Amino acid sequence: MSVSPMYQTILTKTENEIFYITINRESKLNALNIQTLADIKSAILSTYEDNAINGIIITGAGTKAFAAGADIEEFANFSVEEGTRMSAEGHAVLNAIESCPKPVLAAVNGFALGGGNELAMACHLRVASENAKFGQPEVNLGLIPGYAGTQRLAQLIGRGRALELLMTADVINAQEAHRLGLVNHVVTLDQLIPKCEEILNKIKTKSPLAISSVIRCVNAYYEKKLDGNNVEINEFGNFFGSEDFKEGTEAFLNKRPAAFKGK
Ligand code: COA
Repeated sequence: MSVSPMYQTILTKTENEIFYITINRESKLNALNIQTLADIKSAILSTYEDNAINGIIITGAGTKAFAAGADIEEFANFSVEEGTRMSAEGHAVLNAIESCPKPVLAAVNGFALGGGNELAMACHLRVASENAKFGQPEVNLGLIPGYAGTQRLAQLIGRGRALELLMTADVINAQEAHRLGLVNHVVTLDQLIPKCEEILNKIKTKSPLAISSVIRCVNAYYEKKLDGNNVEINEFGNFFGSEDFKEGTEAFLNKRPAAFKGK
């Protein structure tokens, strides 16, 4: 792991075509301040066009927290304008993750509260360690989630369950998060990154064109301005002009593994 001079609050590295982002504010339980969000956004955007990267894993430094929320100390004295800007920018950062053309996995290694849970929910998949804890405790602070937590939580676990967590501020453990469908897998802490790598290595064998298209089509379902069915019809049709589709079907018919180029 290295601190790129570009980033002040995260560590990044690329290994075996996986880009790792580690939120590096362990003494503050990896609370997300404005700089952390800016660092994450710029790191994620740097992967968009990078052909050497097939997937991204976001985790938190240490064994206690993924991210314990937005940085309460930083925003405690914000004005209405600053609060609105903070939320809008948080939305933009998490949208950049959700729209990433490569799979982004949250490796949730501890507390994922408030903005931390919102960050995890913006990732395409979530893998939790057994000690992970999830919640949206903003109402305890006289506040609501500001990084699309009210939207993505309802999308992921359903309206009634989301409203209960949002209104009670209950913090749930990894097994309960799994039961609710908030996380895809629960593993031991030492298996957290290997499990994420296993998933990404499986996805890596598929057509990169198809993977980014699947992400766009599923995202379109939640985008009010788009008709997801039309997006899928158009995307599906376009594959018939792609090299990956020719390669995939030829490989199947010739009973050999496909070697996709992402073209
Ligand atoms: N923002 C800023 N600082 C935070 C933080 C946050 N969201 N969450 C934790 N920290 C800081 C603490 O202030 C403390 O800093 P200090 O050592 O300089 O005093 C440090 O991280 C360790 O946290 P601490 O509270 O001592 O750990 P704990 O094990 O007793 O409790 C939590 C862990 C997660 C239960 C508790 O830190 C907490 O409730 N955090 C806030 C969660 C929250 O409301 N998030 C939503 C924000 S919108």
